[in-house]
Amino acid sequence: LQTLPPFQLARKYFQLFPEQHDPIWQNPCDDKRHKDIWSKEKTCDRLPKFLVVGPQKTGTTALYLFLVMHPSITSNFPSLRTFEEVQFFNGNNYHKGIDWYMDFFPVPSNVTSDFLFEKSANYFPSEDAPKRAAALVPKSKIITLIINPSDRAYSWYQHQRAHEDHAALKYSFYEVISAGHHAPAELRSLQNKCLVPGWYAIHIEHWLTYYPPSQQSTLSFNLALLKKKNNNKLFFFLLLIIDGQQLRSDPAAIMDEVQKFLGVSPYYNYSQALSFDPQKGFWCQLLEGGKTKCLGKSKGRKYPPMDLESRTFLSRYYKDHNVELSKLLHRLGQPLPSWLREELQKVR
Ligand code: A3P
Repeated sequence: LQTLPPFQLARKYFQLFPEQHDPIWQNPCDDKRHKDIWSKEKTCDRLPKFLVVGPQKTGTTALYLFLVMHPSITSNFPSLRTFEEVQFFNGNNYHKGIDWYMDFFPVPSNVTSDFLFEKSANYFPSEDAPKRAAALVPKSKIITLIINPSDRAYSWYQHQRAHEDHAALKYSFYEVISAGHHAPAELRSLQNKCLVPGWYAIHIEHWLTYYPPSQQSTLSFNLALLKKKNNNKLFFFLLLIIDGQQLRSDPAAIMDEVQKFLGVSPYYNYSQALSFDPQKGFWCQLLEGGKTKCLGKSKGRKYPPMDLESRTFLSRYYKDHNVELSKLLHRLGQPLPSWLREELQKVR
């Protein structure tokens, strides 16, 4: 039997098993071998009970604001580097390890039944995020929002312009969405980021691979999570798909649905806690004295409506994706959002 000092041993190991170079973090307490070497000072439950995964521009910040109003729901501490989002499962932060991730969450005391969560809107279209999340927090619930993908693309383009992205300032929206294969790299890259998150069915299927609905034999679970499918069997859902358009127009109804899905208590009455602010043009948190706390200027931006040519182009572009989405929602026993019905009518 041969051995080497730790550094050389690690190098040798990865020469022999290069496919293991990319780590996949699991909860140390789920495996006795890991638990035995995990420091006694550490806990394993500074982890989210649910994730809001995005995509960007669908109302994720509004949902975040409404969630943290709930007395039993607590978000991560803000990240100084990536603004408010942790962005752990999707990119290079993952390589910083689980201690780095857990430091974003308060240590849960024995008495609280707090629902810890984090919202990172870039998780949704990420190839890696579902697999990595399912490895570390397999029982966490997943919340995703969807609005008309054409509107999402336009809102995202406006967001990039507001952030003075060079390509977004240089090219019109129509130029971005319609750019061909031979377009300059910066234009193609902007186009991808603008359009790809709107391939909703593909991304949701990917999340469902790792967070599949499971058939339940007992009714011990929260009934809101159980849906009857065609064959009358009951299924337990870990993934909630919210119509972002409805969150915008009727947030209290959506927040009731979210509370049921999470199984969180006490019931929080959002219809009393939210108020429509006519100046902002959106629903906001109602403060004492009748004032409102709304999201900042970067949420609910003012910009001209999308031109008709772009709208038509995008309806065609997203046609197949929207058809797949409607099939998926049907399979999951979920109603179709009104914008999806309209899109399906348009391109028949
Ligand atoms: P626009 O700024 O294009 O109108 P995200 O937080 O995921 O980036 O989404 C931003 C979008 O949330 C905004 O896009 C806005 O339309 C939408 N939104 C929904 N409800 C809102 C609310 N109560 N306040 C502000 N924006 C809201």
